[in-house]
Amino acid sequence: MTQIAFDSLLPGKPVALEVDGKPVCIARVGDEVFAISNICSHSYAELSDGEVKGFAIECWLHGADFDLRTGEALTLPATEAIETFSVTRDGNDLTISPKTKEK
Ligand code: FES
Repeated sequence: MTQIAFDSLLPGKPVALEVDGKPVCIARVGDEVFAISNICSHSYAELSDGEVKGFAIECWLHGADFDLRTGEALTLPATEAIETFSVTRDGNDLTISPKTKEK
């Protein structure tokens, strides 16, 4: 798991960090914070360099949109969902951790 301060995040300015060795993109939408894999499922691009549009983030390389809430690929050329991470908030402290797999 990784911790980050809520007030260090600005809406529309995603940041990249690592969670348990995995690259993760953190994006704030209003007062909500989402964490998804930072690597686009289409080719290799970091989504933290993309643009947040509502609850989606657009890959800067070829323009695929991903849902920040579910990791779902919303538009081509991406077709595969990306991993999402859990975000818990305690005051100003955010904890990002891998989601436990459902069995
Ligand atoms: S690498 Fe992201 S859309 Fe192609």
